[in-house]
Amino acid sequence: MNDWTTSHERVLVQRHAEGWMFLIEAARDLRTTGALAPSSKALARALTEPVRVQAPRPLAVLEAGAGTGAVTRTLIPQLSRGSRLDIVEANPRFARQLRHLVAAHPTLASRPAQVNVHQTYVEDLDTDERYDVIVSGLPLTNFTPVQVERIMSSYMALLHPGGTLTYFAYLGTRKARALTASRTEAHRHAAVDEVMAAYQRSYATGRWTVWANLPPANVWHLQRPHTAPRDPQHAADGVKR
Ligand SMILES: C[S@@+](CC[C@H](N)C(=O)[O-])C[C@H]1O[C@@H](n2cnc3c(N)ncnc32)[C@H](O)[C@@H]1O
Repeated sequence: MNDWTTSHERVLVQRHAEGWMFLIEAARDLRTTGALAPSSKALARALTEPVRVQAPRPLAVLEAGAGTGAVTRTLIPQLSRGSRLDIVEANPRFARQLRHLVAAHPTLASRPAQVNVHQTYVEDLDTDERYDVIVSGLPLTNFTPVQVERIMSSYMALLHPGGTLTYFAYLGTRKARALTASRTEAHRHAAVDEVMAAYQRSYATGRWTVWANLPPANVWHLQRPHTAPRDPQHAADGVKR
């Protein structure tokens, strides 16, 4: 067996273990975990595109809701020397796994960047740092409209003017919920969609569909304006597709 085979096998075993870990956490708390499996490579690449396009500039990046690190693993090799990455994860077992991932990541040994894992809810993150890019993996459609407004407004406040927020939303969840969930749940989901639509009308710079993910997802890029942000409730800009 050569070195490539053994390292390839190690990666497969690790991904398999992470898949199980994700499933166990989803069984524990599906609302917060938000999915049954980690994101695909295609989704991770679409989410991290704003980091790629700004390299080789050193960037301050925040990843919220990193889970087992499916997106983190794609993100780290794209960071230029001198960049900073803050990873925020609410689930303590995922946070522990992320600390292992960061400590063992080969790119960070050869190209040092400042990477920290914070085990907290992103809306409670206590920092004076401002970010060039925020990559959000949060399952926003599982939350209340009030929580979503709080999270979105804190994302906008945490971005530098001109900074980009990137996040995903699974396709078809609202229809599925309307068919299977209670009326109250369907109303909650519709109200969250309204909050998100207001932010999209104000700040979206792009939306892409990633089919190579289970389930497929839309990736949104939102940009904090260079001038004072408008109230998203009253904005009516078109969205570039
Ligand atoms: C859908 S998973 C995404 C995981 C990973 N980014 C991926 O794409 O595979 C959502 C993650 O967000 C975390 N999470 C949920 N609410 C959070 C919050 N308010 N603050 C920080 N993390 C949160 C969950 O524990 C979970 O790991």
